[in-house]
Amino acid sequence: MKTDHAPSSVRALTVHAPRAPLSGSVHVPGDKSISHRSLMFAALARGTTHITGLLEGEDVLRTADAMRALGADITREGAGQWRVQGCGLDGLREPADVLDMGNSGTAARLLSGILASHGFTSVMTGDASLRGRPMKRVTDPLAATGATFLSRQGGRLPLAIAGNANPPPLAYRLPVASAQVKSAVLLAGLNAVGETRVEEPVATRDHTENMLRHFGAQVQVEPMGAGGRVITLQGRPDLVARDIVVPGDPSSAAFVLVAALLVPGSTVRVQGVGLNPLRTGLFTSLREMGADLAISNERVEGGEPVGDLTATAGALHGVDVPATRAPSMIDEYPVLAVAAAHAVGPSRFRGLEELRVKESDRLAATVALLEANGIRVDVVGDDMIVHGTGGAIPGGGLVETRMDHRLAMSAIVMGLAARKPVSVDDTAFIDTSFPGFVGLMNSIGAGLAA
Ligand code: S3P
Repeated sequence: MKTDHAPSSVRALTVHAPRAPLSGSVHVPGDKSISHRSLMFAALARGTTHITGLLEGEDVLRTADAMRALGADITREGAGQWRVQGCGLDGLREPADVLDMGNSGTAARLLSGILASHGFTSVMTGDASLRGRPMKRVTDPLAATGATFLSRQGGRLPLAIAGNANPPPLAYRLPVASAQVKSAVLLAGLNAVGETRVEEPVATRDHTENMLRHFGAQVQVEPMGAGGRVITLQGRPDLVARDIVVPGDPSSAAFVLVAALLVPGSTVRVQGVGLNPLRTGLFTSLREMGADLAISNERVEGGEPVGDLTATAGALHGVDVPATRAPSMIDEYPVLAVAAAHAVGPSRFRGLEELRVKESDRLAATVALLEANGIRVDVVGDDMIVHGTGGAIPGGGLVETRMDHRLAMSAIVMGLAARKPVSVDDTAFIDTSFPGFVGLMNSIGAGLAA
């Protein structure tokens, strides 16, 4: 399979604090989670789906290539405008080559669920970061479909999957709070006769449930315990193509908004940001720190709540973020840590075990990012404690981004708010989720070198 979406060459950057405040009104690219799902589910539906606002980052382009290799007809019709001619449920065909999922854990894990319940053999690989990430969390529950998985040690990619076209429905209780694992099990259930059931002790992002319903599947969600959910899916639904509007990614808006909160005098608006309550833990936490973060123009677009967010710079104070909030802001801890470094007093982020298995070990990498720039950090069990400087981040350090887009963007935000310039070893991986990030930041006055 083509591998032309890999970040091509290393792009180092040194970030200086801007001379003037940040200001402006911008749109961020489409939501990554929703973009992956829209391509995958449209490929499984009957008919033609038009997608508006698709994220054209490298991760999502990998998913497009993979679904094409599996038989879907996918065409880019304009910026963010894509057309998918689906194959119908059970209509995918054996790919002629290895599926290369690049840097994307979401693509690899969700696709595993789909491939486990198709009667052919496929092989999946990824870049060095993805080949280091655990896949057993999906292959363990998916083994009950009757599919066979062959991987490297520790369940790492490359992974060969011999699927079973007639899987039994699964019943699974998530041992980790992961929307990817939940989604893999539900997607395997599409081809099973009967009811697939997933219990999640803590609710995780529900884009799979929402979008499967949008395409006509019967999905029921009921509360379970304190903050958990039980999801049931009726197998073999008639999935019918329906158009999709992808909202702006709150996980991408996070970097722009935190930069505006930290650079004195700034006011920046980000328009059309997805506000699904299972994604907005960062905004809650920032408000608890005293951030001036206003939501306006709230509306529903493509079945998801959306609004405009305006961040105005001001003093922040430390915050104690409970572990139960982690799934709703799991990708935002590195940039929240930068905000905490700028705040007055200590912040404690609890229950971060899942951060260890992201594009990098994000717990260790966030600690390194902060310490390299003069911030004291403690890790106690799975909690991180950041000792805020009250607006005086020293900076002057080199950040190693470890093939991790979110670390690179967090390091840039830190550089904008630090006393001495912050060097970033490689910003190329930003293209996986936020193509055009440097240009967008410059359009609001960041003054980053091209
Ligand atoms: C995602 C789920 C999260 C998140 C990732 C996207 C998804 O991963 O970190 O960026 O689209 O389902 P986990 O489900 O492993 O927490």
